[in-house]
Amino acid sequence: MISCGAGSTNQEMVQEDTNHPGMSKGKSLFVANCNQCHKLNEKTIGPALVGTMQRWNNDTPRVTRFIKNSAEAISLGDPRAKQVYDENNQSPMPAMTHLTDNDVIELIDYINKGVE
Ligand code: HEC
Repeated sequence: MISCGAGSTNQEMVQEDTNHPGMSKGKSLFVANCNQCHKLNEKTIGPALVGTMQRWNNDTPRVTRFIKNSAEAISLGDPRAKQVYDENNQSPMPAMTHLTDNDVIELIDYINKGVE
């Protein structure tokens, strides 16, 4: 039982989550950290995330700051942070300080693609 067929091509797949083969890093981060409160196209506990970047003027650093620590973005006076907080009856999104900036970029990429 030495050969097992097709051979490994995994190294060629960029951004694949090594712990969850076949899933992009962004999707796997989303399932692990966001799924319980967000869907892309439907409001659940948190708002639907489709179109997020347009609502944040495509400003990745701003939305990254919000995702990592929404309370801080609100207290710093970010207008979209305040608005989305008010729109959701001021139920706060928990801080996600364990995520790296690169994790958030992968998450935004997944949200932008809009596939569930
Ligand atoms: C415990 C529930 C919860 C979890 C988990 C959660 N969120 Fe949220 N999220 C919310 C709520 C509630 C709001 C709206 C209120 C607010 O702004 O705090 C929100 C708002 C947002 C917004 C603003 C959307 C807009 O239209 O401006 C983004 C972006 C977002 N979340 C992304 C994420 C991402 C990415 C994750 C995973 C890393 C995540 N959230 C995890 C509850 C959650």
